[in-house]
Amino acid sequence: MNKTLYLTTPIYYINGSPHLGHAYTSIIADVIARAHRLFGKDVFFLTGTDEHGQKIVEAAQKSGSPLAHFIDARAQEFKEMNTLLNISNSNFIRTSSDLHKKVVTEIITSIYSNGDIYAGTYRGLYCVGCEAYYSKDDLIDGNRCPTHQQEVRELEEDTYFFKLGKYQDKLLEYYEKNPNFILPQTRFSEIYNRVKAGLDDLSITRTSFDWGVRFPFDHKHVLYVWVDALCNYISGLDGIKTSTFARFWPPDVQIIGKDISWFHTVIWPALLLSAGISLPKQVLIHGWWTVEGDKMSKTLGNVIDPFEMSREYGSDVFRFYLMYNAHMGSDSNFSLAELKQQNNAVLANNIGNLVSRVVTLLNQYCNGTIPMITEFDPEEKKFIEIIKDNKKYVDEISSYTIRNALFDVIEKFAELNKYITDRKPWDDFKHSNKSRGEKTLAMICESIRFLSLQLDPFIPIKAQEIRKSLGTMNINLDFDFKYSAGSKVLAEKRILFAKLE
Ligand code: MSP
Repeated sequence: MNKTLYLTTPIYYINGSPHLGHAYTSIIADVIARAHRLFGKDVFFLTGTDEHGQKIVEAAQKSGSPLAHFIDARAQEFKEMNTLLNISNSNFIRTSSDLHKKVVTEIITSIYSNGDIYAGTYRGLYCVGCEAYYSKDDLIDGNRCPTHQQEVRELEEDTYFFKLGKYQDKLLEYYEKNPNFILPQTRFSEIYNRVKAGLDDLSITRTSFDWGVRFPFDHKHVLYVWVDALCNYISGLDGIKTSTFARFWPPDVQIIGKDISWFHTVIWPALLLSAGISLPKQVLIHGWWTVEGDKMSKTLGNVIDPFEMSREYGSDVFRFYLMYNAHMGSDSNFSLAELKQQNNAVLANNIGNLVSRVVTLLNQYCNGTIPMITEFDPEEKKFIEIIKDNKKYVDEISSYTIRNALFDVIEKFAELNKYITDRKPWDDFKHSNKSRGEKTLAMICESIRFLSLQLDPFIPIKAQEIRKSLGTMNINLDFDFKYSAGSKVLAEKRILFAKLE
């Protein structure tokens, strides 16, 4: 296993407040980061805000605030979302920072020195929402953006081009040598075929506004916001010639939504090839959320606010719901009724009830202390082996199929429920078979402690509360009775997961 793991989220546009989409990408990244820290890796987890470009200027103008004030306030909201959702990022990069601008200038200088930038004029149809040009064929009715539905603008500008076409063969070679570069696999052939069909050179500077990084070779131009933004993955490591960069580059996994896969799997690797920097290992592409069946949009008034969700249901319930339904690669539908139903069935019934049942039994029959047991019969040993086997969980996390990892832990909790129901320790205590009852509780308690660690990446606060209920804060990843035996469980009954109506 590698000792380090570098993972990134996209940097978020700050023209609007954080919403479900941003929260989703960040939570996926956070689960992966936390799980790998648990496995002992040295993790660097980068996120941040994308603050340049036309749409930010327009949003600031609309808000009536001065630009500097607007971007600071909005970046702060994204930081607050991270705090509220317990996102454990290592750094938060803002593209308006001096460090970022310096790093972008360095990278673009390497690309220029390599002869990959030339002057020209560009005429095309531009969507400000995407900050990208479209060909007529890709538009709805020839004039509306497929992502934002809004009308594109016809622009004609003097510009500098990046020789993207020059990198077609090298990109194809990289994809062929790294068939897992684009995950899930279903997205791979889509990109591969588009690159194979041919690549136009890319317009990488703008002159019609100046909110961006100056193009160092012609100060009338600012860099195209996407080129600027992609470089965050390097400035977020403090730049190229730094010890952080040496330790973590290249990214092990870059997590993105399906709408921005072209930028991350084609343009970004081509820029890096030109700058002589090694390429990211994997790009993990997730689908989009609709809300109660509709596209999430301000116009429909159905935007899901992560702040409200966390206040209303708790950040762990929100995290759990998104991860429980995170079909990587395909779209998911957000439904409040489903969130409540899954909270009740999985968190409250399957996990919460088990913990409180065990705590009650221990208080009733074992002086509130988890018994120390050393001898087990073959049937019991067999059960312990099933719970102990976390290979599937580790494999699922390592291949970023995190939903399956969550399902695996939940299934184990279901096994525990079944075991306690079948063994009926309460009958043993009542009918003077104390040692059998104690064995059951000892097994269940160590199993809960062990499985709670696998829940940590998904529901970090609640997983810790589960251990608190059992009186054992031990976070050793091995299954061993010494980690829970002798612990004093909570004397009072505590509701870990409230049922939602
Ligand atoms: N600023 C660019 C990224 C630059 S990275 C060098 C950007 N920002 S964004 O704020 O528009 O989107 C950020 C992420 O949120 C993307 O991964 C996008 O897919 C995700 N989502 C936005 N809306 C979404 C949903 N409705 N559902 C799921 N994710 C969505 O693009």
